[in-house]
Order: sequence, then C-alpha cells, then structure tokens
Amino acid sequence: MGDVCVILGGGGHARVLIDCIQMIGRTKLAGILEYDRTRWGQELMNIPILGGDDLLADIFARGVNCFVVGLGGTGNNQPRQRLYDLGLANHLKPLTIVHPAAVCSRWAKIGAGSQLLPGSIINAGAVIGVNVIVNSGGIVEHDCIVGDHVHIATGAKLASTVRVGDGAHIGAGATVRQCLTIGERAIVGAGAVVVKNVLAHTVVAGVPARPLNIVA
Ligand SMILES: CC(C)(COP(=O)(O)OP(=O)(O)OC[C@H]1O[C@@H](n2cnc3c(N)ncnc32)[C@H](O)[C@@H]1OP(=O)(O)O)[C@@H](O)C(=O)NCCC(=O)NCCS
Repeated sequence: MGDVCVILGGGGHARVLIDCIQMIGRTKLAGILEYDRTRWGQELMNIPILGGDDLLADIFARGVNCFVVGLGGTGNNQPRQRLYDLGLANHLKPLTIVHPAAVCSRWAKIGAGSQLLPGSIINAGAVIGVNVIVNSGGIVEHDCIVGDHVHIATGAKLASTVRVGDGAHIGAGATVRQCLTIGERAIVGAGAVVVKNVLAHTVVAGVPARPLNIVA
C-alpha cells in the first residue's frame, strides 16, 4: 500500500501542497489538522479538515503513516519547525515533495520533509536540510548548503556556494550573491540583493541589502 499523509496546517501553502501531492499521485491524503477550530469539519480542495493537533495521538487508526508541514511563512520559520517536530514525535515519517516541474540535480541532497515546488531549480552539489521549502521559481545554485526549516520564498535566488543557517527566510524575489553566509533565523526581505554576509537573527532588506532595526 502507498503512503497515507496528513497535512499539518491548512492555509494557502497547504493548497499548493495538495495540488503537488495529487499531481505526483503516489500518496493518499487522509486530511488536514488545523489550529483554527472554526474550520474543523470543513474541506480544503475536497480534503477534510479533521480537527486539531491532538488528533495526531491516534492518527495511525486512520491509516496515516506520514505527514507534511502545510504552513508557509513570510519570515519566522519556528511555527513550521514546531509542526515538523510534532509530526516526528508522533512517529510519522516526513513526506518529501518534488513537484514534477521542479528541476533537481541527481547530485543534490534533499532532506526529509522538504518541498521543491513548481519551477524551482536545485543544482548539482547543493545540500538541502530537513523541512525546507524551495518555493515556486526559487533557485538554489550549485554547492549551496541550506540548513533545516529554511524557506527560500517564491522566486528567490541563491548564487553558488551560499550557506543558509537553520530557520532562515530568504524573501520573495531576493538574490544572494555567491559564497555568502546567511546566519541562523536571519530574514532577507523581499526583493533584496544581498552582497555581504548576514548575521544570525538579523533582518536585512533593500538593494544592496542593509540591516533593518528589527530582531528576527
Ligand atoms: C523585511 C520584512 C521581514 C520586514 O517586515 P516588518 O518587520 O513587518 O517590517 P515593516 O513592513 O514594518 O517595514 C519596516 C521598514 O522596512 C522597510 N521594508 C520592509 N520590507 C522591505 C523590503 N522587502 N525591502 C525594502 N524595504 C523594506 C519598510 O518600508 C519600512 O521602512 P520605514 O521604517 O522607512 O517605513 C518584510 O517586509 C519582508 O520583506 N518579508 C518577506 C516576505 C516574503 O518573502 N514573502 C513571500 C512568502 S512566499
């Protein structure tokens, strides 16, 4: 029997994942767990919103054996990390998603539970951690090392040999110049062009990117 998956979080990002999983066609979707109780009993794209996280305790009874984090993000990736840890703590395996229209080198390594969305490109020698989103049109060039729980947002580009620390966010359409390091949980604003290393827990934005007076 193929995998049966539960989606943790039922917002807009979950829509994209439902579409991807259905297009790949190997995994059955059992339902969605969502913190907003007003949505319990409803459906998202014909997939039932079963209830809250507490249902994970006996999710095996529904035949579920794997999970995917359905939450996207615009900066703080800690909620995504929390859901990933919750899935593991409940003995489910993380589902890794590679959309048929993503281009992923066979010389790249992709961590468990990561999501390569339509039009993304992961080039040779890149190493992607666990629970990473490379969103639509995102590019991770050769030899980049991307930590766990990172979000490379829509259309963002990492030139070659960039290192991205755990939990960082690279904003939509941003570009990071080659060989730079983006620290843990740093946030790169949408549209930024990063030409210097970014320290951990720092928010940068603009062209060229400069720190904003905000702590990530
Ligand atoms: C950088 C960012 C995290 C800052 O968010 P915030 O803390 O809510 O900051 P604010 O919107 O209050 O803006 C603070 C200041 O930074 C400026 N600023 C915010 N984002 C900026 C950006 N991307 N580029 C340039 N300047 C930016 C604002 O104009 C504002 O300037 P001011 O103080 O002179 O008015 C956010 O704007 C951003 O770009 N997030 C990424 C979103 C993203 O990737 N979405 C895609 C998901 S797929």
